[in-house]
Amino acid sequence: MRHLLSPLDMSVEELDSLFDLANDIEKNPEKYCEACKHKKIATLFYEPSTRTRLSFEAAMINLGGQVLGFSEATSSSAAKGESVADTMKIVSCYADICAMRHPKEGSAFVAAQNAAIPVINAGDGGHEHPTQTLTDLLTIRSMKGRLGNFTIGLCGDLKFGRTVHSLINALLRYENIKFVLISPQELRVPDYIIRQIENAGATYEEVTKLEDSMSELDLLYMTRVQRERFFNEEDYIRLKDSFILTKDKMQLAKDDMLVLHPLPRVNEISVQVDEDPRAAYFKQAQYGVYARMALILKLLEIEV
Ligand code: CP
Repeated sequence: MRHLLSPLDMSVEELDSLFDLANDIEKNPEKYCEACKHKKIATLFYEPSTRTRLSFEAAMINLGGQVLGFSEATSSSAAKGESVADTMKIVSCYADICAMRHPKEGSAFVAAQNAAIPVINAGDGGHEHPTQTLTDLLTIRSMKGRLGNFTIGLCGDLKFGRTVHSLINALLRYENIKFVLISPQELRVPDYIIRQIENAGATYEEVTKLEDSMSELDLLYMTRVQRERFFNEEDYIRLKDSFILTKDKMQLAKDDMLVLHPLPRVNEISVQVDEDPRAAYFKQAQYGVYARMALILKLLEIEV
């Protein structure tokens, strides 16, 4: 039995196979519409979500399976003090696979240790968000035709943004990628991630202005400032509008640069950018369904 707790739980070859499957699902959805008949996914969300929970649920429904779960801790027995470990022992009796989001780093690991079914980490605190990474990689591969040989700007809250941490980790396995890390000083990428970049021998630079780097980027990955992880509101208010991508700034970018964002967006991308053909973030959310459908099939070892 396999879990997905980190994007590194899958080899590059396994990821390629998963992305091929996701692309086939996109082209031939009817071929997969009964693949998970009689299977159930439990979505256990102790933290708010729109895309991740609903795309997991859509993915299982598209595969002919069913969905159960909760969307907030207060509507589960966590509110009475039940542990993640006990919850997983129970959910293993009711479902075939589960996706869990939890505010504590490492909670997905605890869940996997206590589950009799595959566990998917749908976000654990400020740590990792591997299925967002599968979504991001699938989007890049599908729209750029490659994973490697590009310069990617990661912009915003690089300290608390778990999607950024997982994406950097995953991209370090591909060739010739330069990272431009664009953040205020207070929201820099954590030192342990910088060490991972250095140990992998990848090229990176840390900057504080988006405009200065725009012209060299093949991909721009915008992120919101993660209000829920700040210790005080004053710091959040001071930093929340550090970067706003506007139509004017887009004029500095290459004609084929893609703008990605895991979403939700708050204020960091002007809605006027949405009409730019390089804005790929809504398409990215659609790829999230195909990536999660492929992941469910792989973890349940179902071949179509
Ligand atoms: N990208 C993402 O994780 O979105 P949600 O928080 O809405 O699930």
